[in-house]
Amino acid sequence: MSDKKFSVVIAGGGSTYTPGIVLTLLDNLDKFPIRSLKFYDNDGERQQKVADACAIMIKERAPEIEFLATTNPAEGFSDVDFVMAQIRVGKYEMREKDEKIPLKHGVVGQETTGPGGIAYGLRSIGGVLELIDYMEKYSPNAWMLNYSNPAAIVAVATNRLRPKSKIINICDMPIGIMDRMAKILKLDSYKELDFDYYGLNHFGWWTAVRDKKGNNLMPQLQAYVREHGYILPDESGTEKSWRETFEMAKNVYALDPETLPNTYLKYYLYPQEVVKHSDPNHTRTDEIRLGREKFVFEECAKITESGTAQNSAFKSDEHASYIIDLCRAIAYNTKERMLVITPNKGAVENLDSDTMVEIPCLIGANGPEPLAQGKIPRFQKGLIEEQNSVENLVVDAWTEGSYTKLWQALSLSKIVPDAGLAKAILDELVEANKDYWPELK
Ligand code: NAD
Ligand code: LMR
Repeated sequence: MSDKKFSVVIAGGGSTYTPGIVLTLLDNLDKFPIRSLKFYDNDGERQQKVADACAIMIKERAPEIEFLATTNPAEGFSDVDFVMAQIRVGKYEMREKDEKIPLKHGVVGQETTGPGGIAYGLRSIGGVLELIDYMEKYSPNAWMLNYSNPAAIVAVATNRLRPKSKIINICDMPIGIMDRMAKILKLDSYKELDFDYYGLNHFGWWTAVRDKKGNNLMPQLQAYVREHGYILPDESGTEKSWRETFEMAKNVYALDPETLPNTYLKYYLYPQEVVKHSDPNHTRTDEIRLGREKFVFEECAKITESGTAQNSAFKSDEHASYIIDLCRAIAYNTKERMLVITPNKGAVENLDSDTMVEIPCLIGANGPEPLAQGKIPRFQKGLIEEQNSVENLVVDAWTEGSYTKLWQALSLSKIVPDAGLAKAILDELVEANKDYWPELK
């Protein structure tokens, strides 16, 4: 390993995930040394509250790291090796509309799926492309690890509109589920598991889970999921909406007993059941405002007021440790096998080569090398091709400013049962998003 120390910018410095990422970076300095850490955000006031607390955390743990929080792209993106991108264009105010507008019409209202995900996608595309352009202008050799959602639509857009850019789109949800699998199997961590997986982001299936000796663990896991979904014996710290999602995995699993599913497939396969359990006046946004967001900003204020983070309740997390593993794989060309979103290039034999699939890849200094996953069954192929067409239609709508393409995207989405209903929802979304979407004709 060289002695190089890296420079990192977190884009979306005001994110609720930032303190966890900073703590995880500080915990891993021996594996991934950093000399400079910057925050960049277009909301300076929100970011400053997080930055004031993080400055104290850094000063107490690693005062040699240079720290800066800025809203100036030139400052933020100059002299960096890695951009960790986690923006939410329109913030929670717009996420609330993505959820509540479709629900008012009896359709699933969700952050990354169906009409809500499409609306968020049309906001995110421009924001993420802007970050890529800043990176390429000010630090042309840097890599961007993007986990701004909706990652599936963003990945299609970055692949089509910035095909040569050094960006890897990633998601921690499969890691979170594999951490549950490890607990079901009474193992310490998902890192003790090898796996095969294919799909789109938030839309995929495991075809193999093995221990490091190569033993097949699928039968044991499937027997558990058939009965409990991904619910663990102790769920005392889990939010209500996530408990429902982990439980519902058993209904999704029942549709294909050969594989194990990603939890978000419930929105596509059981939309009516999801709507029945939703409260149009209290959605995930309300849960986060009263939960994670409140906790993060109160905790930041406590650190800033007391001048110390010694007693802080922030913890490093698996979401962040996955991102650091990815940085390490690129920085040291480790060829670690990781799940990322990447152009298919034949890895799934019977999907188009330009589909942005989520599959295991070897990650090195030149990015991901996709690993062959073979042919997939008709059921999954049909679902994936429909969903991938929706995602591409959203990018068409964004580039062409086309209302029709967007209406087609909503109508094709498995979550929306009828083109007339799609239009009614779309017209409300157009109005709500007029400050963010391109003008549609
Ligand atoms: P948040 O609203 O707390 O933070 C997002 C930040 O982005 C805000 O401070 C906001 O001001 C900033 N921002 C918005 N538009 C911007 C732009 N154009 N340029 C610069 N900054 C901008 O949101 P959060 O809940 O912390 O989530 C952040 C992002 O991470 C979301 O996109 C979320 O969906 C995503 N996420 C991804 C994963 C994953 O693994 N894929 C997991 C969790 C969250
Ligand atoms: C988040 O905001 O945490 C999402 O990305 C996923 C969720 O919990 O709704």
